[in-house]
Amino acid sequence: MTRREEWAEALDEARSGGATVGLVPTMGALHGGHLSLVRRAAATTATVAVSVYVNPLQFGRDEDLARYPRDLERDVAVATAAGAQLVFAPEAGEMWPEAPATTVHVRGITEPFEGEARPGHFDGVATIVTKLLSLSGRCLAFFGEKDFQQLAVVRRLVRDLSLPVEVVGCPTVRDADGLALSSRNAYLAPAERAAAPRVYAALLAGRRAVEGRGARRPGEVEAAMAAVLADDPRFALDYAAVVRPDDLSVPTVVAGEVRLLVAARLGGTRLVDNLPARSPHPEGP
Ligand code: PAJ
Repeated sequence: MTRREEWAEALDEARSGGATVGLVPTMGALHGGHLSLVRRAAATTATVAVSVYVNPLQFGRDEDLARYPRDLERDVAVATAAGAQLVFAPEAGEMWPEAPATTVHVRGITEPFEGEARPGHFDGVATIVTKLLSLSGRCLAFFGEKDFQQLAVVRRLVRDLSLPVEVVGCPTVRDADGLALSSRNAYLAPAERAAAPRVYAALLAGRRAVEGRGARRPGEVEAAMAAVLADDPRFALDYAAVVRPDDLSVPTVVAGEVRLLVAARLGGTRLVDNLPARSPHPEGP
């Protein structure tokens, strides 16, 4: 369906007997990562609702909005096969009959990493996600850990605004060689696609530094990850970091559960990935 009222009514009806709704927001070009969220929602909730909307607000001026892959017919077919009952695919003019004067800005957690690399990106994400959650009503909302900072931003805005939504984070789906599935992988030339799993290799090197060597200094872990990418001059590193998983702050000492983050450019494509790691050192008081 394409109209906002139709969507809101369908979800109200789905909830009318007390059943739960599972929402999976996407920008389409659905792949196995998206479909893992749909399947998880289908296993958890009575009605699964998928939104497909390429959100102009979250693209920078020089980014790939115009060439972002779109194939709605296929998206509907694969989402339905994975367990979705409802698909919402509004046009931009339906989403915003008038240009929005309101921006949802989440302070702090949006500033480093992707926020620094893509100014304004998280305002666009937070604004559209708030809008989608508002249109959808009480639900469980499924987001991928692939976009780890986005997941943290969404958790924060749902908490701050007391939205009637339970956010469910879902693990990253990867190709057999370790490359995280992403719609943007379609931009990679064959030689780049062959090199791309190096980002995952960098994360694994970071995990070895944390778990195997028990590295205490964040800089040591970051250097281990950066070194793997530095071995191939086609990569330009944006950041390699070890952070606390809840607020993405960089700890002074690596301890307890941490998250490893890497973003690098390969040709014209940015590859963004992350991995959990558990330090043998207990977290301090
Ligand atoms: P999109 O990039 O289409 O991703 C939709 C959802 O799928 C996000 O929650 C994302 O984290 C998840 N996802 C993508 N690749 C994944 C993978 N390999 N494994 C597991 N989950 C994966 O993220 C967005 O769209 C937009 O920012 C959106 C939230 C829809 C707002 O416009």
